Amino acid sequence: MTRPDARPSPDRMLREAAARLDRRRFLTVTSAAAALAFGVNLPSAQAADAEFAPQVLKENPFTLGVASGDPLPNAVVLWTRLAPRPLEPGFGLPPVGSVRVGWEISRDERFKRVERRGSARAHAEFSYSLHVDVDGLQAGREYWYRFTVGSWTSPVGRTRTAPARGRRLESARLAVVSCQAYEDGYFTAYRHLADEDLDAVFHVGDYIYEYGIDAVGGDRRYTDRTLPSELNHETVSLEDYRLRYSLYKNDPDLQHAHAAHPWYVTWDDHEVENNYAAGIPEKNQDPVPFVARRAAAYRAYWENQPLRLPQPRGTELTLYRRVHFGQLAQFDILDTRQYRDDQANGDGWKYPTPESEDPKRTLMGAAQERWFAEGLRRSTATWNVVPQQVVFSRRKNTTAERSKLSMDAWDGYPAARERFLTAVDQAGTKNLVLLTGDVHVAYAFDVKRNVDDPASRTVGVELVGTSISSDGDGEERPSDWATMMAANPHLKFFDARRGYTVVSLDHHRARADHRVLSHITRPGGTLSTASSFVTEAGNPGLHPA
Ligand SMILES: [Fe+2]
Repeated sequence: MTRPDARPSPDRMLREAAARLDRRRFLTVTSAAAALAFGVNLPSAQAADAEFAPQVLKENPFTLGVASGDPLPNAVVLWTRLAPRPLEPGFGLPPVGSVRVGWEISRDERFKRVERRGSARAHAEFSYSLHVDVDGLQAGREYWYRFTVGSWTSPVGRTRTAPARGRRLESARLAVVSCQAYEDGYFTAYRHLADEDLDAVFHVGDYIYEYGIDAVGGDRRYTDRTLPSELNHETVSLEDYRLRYSLYKNDPDLQHAHAAHPWYVTWDDHEVENNYAAGIPEKNQDPVPFVARRAAAYRAYWENQPLRLPQPRGTELTLYRRVHFGQLAQFDILDTRQYRDDQANGDGWKYPTPESEDPKRTLMGAAQERWFAEGLRRSTATWNVVPQQVVFSRRKNTTAERSKLSMDAWDGYPAARERFLTAVDQAGTKNLVLLTGDVHVAYAFDVKRNVDDPASRTVGVELVGTSISSDGDGEERPSDWATMMAANPHLKFFDARRGYTVVSLDHHRARADHRVLSHITRPGGTLSTASSFVTEAGNPGLHPA
C-alpha cells in the first residue's frame, strides 16, 4: 500500500528495514522493530521537552471529546487528545514540542466543589494525548471533569469511581458494547447509551476497523462533508491509525457516551487487522512487517483510550486486568488476541480436526491463563464477570450431528476452553457471566460444562452484545435464526439488530436487557428492549425476566 506523500512513513521505513534482516534473527528484529516504531520520526528527548505557549492554539483543540476510564475505588484516568484539525495531517498542531493542559475534577457539574486540579503536558510524541491518573478520590461516587488549554475549555465529562473493595455493594449496572465500523452506519446506539444509568461501560473490541473509508463515509452517505482521501486505504502506519482514531473520536454520539460514563476497554482484532493472531497477520504474510504494523496499532490504541498503563514497551501492551466492585462482582477483562495460537484449519468455519483439537493450543497464552485461574481461586465476589472478545459457547450452524465451527472463536480452541472451565470448577466459581462481542448479533447462552452435551450442567451464562454499527441495520430474525436456535439448545436468544446489552447485578440475580435500534444507516434510530433475561445467584441458567 503506497501513500501519496513523497516522504516514506516511519512504519514504511521500518517495514523495509525489518524485511532486509535475517529471518532467523526474528526476535532481535521484533524488538528492534518496536523500538523503531516508537522512535522513528519522533523528537529527541530535549525537543520533546520544549514547551510552547497555549496561545499557539488558534482553534478549538477539543474536537475529539473527553473520556474517563479504568476507575478504581480511589482513582480514575481522565483522557483527551488535542486536535484542532482532526482530519488533517498533523491534526493542526506543531510536529514537535508540548503544551501544558489544565485539568480539574469536581463533585458537582458546575465545578463549584472542585476536588482536585492540576496540569499535565501533552506531547507531540504521543499525538498530544493526555492520560491523567487522578487519585485521592472517594470510592463509589460521581465526579465531573474538564480540561483547559489557553482560552479553550473542553466539554465536561461525568465519571464514577469504583466501589470500595470490602463494601457490601447492593447493586451495579453496566453495559457491554463492541464492533463500531464507522462506515457501516451511525453511532446512534451511543446517543442512547449516554442516557442510561450506568456505573461503567465495558468495550470488548473492534473500536475501530482498519478498512478504507470513502469520501462519503460509506453507508453514512454524507452529503454535508467530504472525508479526506487518506482514510480511503487500510490502516498500516502509525499516522494511519492516529487518523482513524481521530475520525471515530470526532463522532458526536461516541463523544456523548464517553463523556457520560467511565469505560473499561479491551481490544479484539480490527484494532490491528481482521483475524490476526498474536504476531501472525490474517493471510499468514511475512510476520516481520506485521510486527511493526501491530506496534503502531497498539500505540495508537493506547494514545486514544483512557487506559491506566505505561506507554507500550517493545511490541506488547498488557491489557488483561482485574477490577473489583465491592463484594458484588469481580471483573476479569481478557485479551484473547495478543497471545493466541494461529487459527486452526486455515480459519473460517471448519470441521474440527486434530489440528484444532491439539491440547497445546492457547487463546489467552499461558501467563494470562495462570493469572485468570489464580484470580478465580481468590475471588470472594458474588459474581465473576469476564468481559472478553469471541464467542465462548459452542455454536453449531446445522442441526446435523456434525457441524462446522468458528475457528476464530473458542470453538476453534477447545483445549483452551476446557482449561478455562476446569479453572472455574477448581475455584468453585458459582456465578460466572461472560460478556462477549465480535459477532455483530446479540445472543444469550447457558454455558454448559460439556459443550458437546447440551444436557450437561449449566456452569454460567454468556451474554453476547450486538454491534454498535458493524453490518448495518441488521434484522430481528436473520435467515439462519431458526437453524441456529434449533441447532443450539443452550442458545436462549438471538437478535441481529444493532445496539448494546445492559447488565444489572445484585446479590440475588443478574439481569440482561438487550437494547436494539430501529435503524442506523440514517440518523435518528429509535431504541427498544428486544429481550430481558435473569439468572439467579447460585442457580445458573437464563430465564425470561
Ligand atoms: Fe467486529
